[in-house]
Amino acid sequence: MDSCRLLVVSNRLPTSITRNGEQSWSTKISGGGLVSALLGVKNEETKWIGWAGLEVKDEIGQKSLTNVLAEKRCIPVFLDNDTTDKYYNGYCNCIIWPILHYLGIPQDDCFAKNGTYKAQYDAYKKANKAFADVIMEHYREGDIIWIHDYHLMLLPKYLKDHNSNMKIGFFLHTTFPPSEIWRTLPEGPELLRSLLASDMIGLHTYDLVRHFVSTCSNILGLESTPKGIMDQGKLTRISAFPIGIDADNFINTVQTSEVKMEMKRLKEKFGGRKIILGVERLDTIKGIPHKILAFERFLEENPEWRNKVVLVEIGVPSRSDVPEYQKLKIQIHELVSRVNGRFGTFHQVPIHHLDQSVNFPTLCALYAVSDVALITSLRDGMNLVSYEYVASQTTNKGVLILSEVAGAAQCLGAGAILVNPWNTPDIAASISRALTMPAKEREKRHQHNLAYVKSYTAQEWANDNLRCIHETIAEAQIPKQL
Ligand code: F6P
Repeated sequence: MDSCRLLVVSNRLPTSITRNGEQSWSTKISGGGLVSALLGVKNEETKWIGWAGLEVKDEIGQKSLTNVLAEKRCIPVFLDNDTTDKYYNGYCNCIIWPILHYLGIPQDDCFAKNGTYKAQYDAYKKANKAFADVIMEHYREGDIIWIHDYHLMLLPKYLKDHNSNMKIGFFLHTTFPPSEIWRTLPEGPELLRSLLASDMIGLHTYDLVRHFVSTCSNILGLESTPKGIMDQGKLTRISAFPIGIDADNFINTVQTSEVKMEMKRLKEKFGGRKIILGVERLDTIKGIPHKILAFERFLEENPEWRNKVVLVEIGVPSRSDVPEYQKLKIQIHELVSRVNGRFGTFHQVPIHHLDQSVNFPTLCALYAVSDVALITSLRDGMNLVSYEYVASQTTNKGVLILSEVAGAAQCLGAGAILVNPWNTPDIAASISRALTMPAKEREKRHQHNLAYVKSYTAQEWANDNLRCIHETIAEAQIPKQL
């Protein structure tokens, strides 16, 4: 791969920032797949451009934060709070997110709280333009610009309109729906046209590539080829790159004494009960109510398991200013309390639920001690929790129950028990099967998934994407045969 400068662009920077004083800042590296993937990218001088994550109105503050971040090869985009609210809480998370996950656009309180539909889309344009301005300020001829996710779908067009020589890759970290769902989004055609200004677009799976390509054909009337979409003689390459994790980080962390101590504490705390684990952002797409209903059904149908099993559910707070997410939290609390009221005793409850994130060693310990991971996403681009669980299961060889509509099902399907998240009786039966699965079968399934998780890592994903972007650019430069 040629050595050249890479400008990674995403809504969030890989660093979270706190202001301590006029020119005093604390920064903390954020976790997540994208960060670890890009830390492993070799032969590229990388800079990361993203939203600062907080409003900085004063010029002195903006300059001093820019200098602090420059040392971390990060470049901030400054957005005021009103724009952020309408762009991020509004258009990104009330409108595009549900559409991408095959849900409808909410009709009511989304607009009352986060601005009218028009105001939200205007803010989306404004934010994308602010990103474009910062990129243009830092761009040097030959740079590769790699844009991430649904927050920045207008960016490829804004950049190419400014400089048609810019080389742009785009990766969508979510699902992409069939064309008839995308059609319901009023700005759908405009967003597609902008995305197609990229040289290469990556999605997690072949199914998603198929959806994206057929949406471009059905809605924009464009020609599809085995490599992507043709528009007026220009090819936009569309390819599948299933993201992975830094598996060694989990494998090594579960061996540390800190995690081993925490595992011991957790086992004592749950007093020998079997542990079923759920970990996810508190998001409407994650199917948390569906999981609780299935667990309730399992307890109803299998009285012998009552008091012998606990569901540990970690709902990491997310997008808490968005009404749909607020309603979900209330719904989950009601369900948890119903199940605990029905099946709990004075001494223990069947669902141990937290509305908070846990630190990395505790997370690894939870993964490692759990007998079953239960993932019931209603749609999910990939679902890396399933990978993290597999990588951390060094001793237990626990069973993964995985939603068949998460992207991960296409990679870990042979080792996991796949379930339809709407099929409550089937999930209940799968819980029973997982808890009683013979050790030999558990081991076989685990080894199958572990081999995948260890071989297709986040670094491989990033390298494959970048290789494809370079190839696409090189092919476009070969003069066409007459
Ligand atoms: O899955 C899409 C995604 O945007 C990820 O890139 C990100 O880690 C996650 O959702 C959480 O997003 P947010 O920035 O809204 O917390």
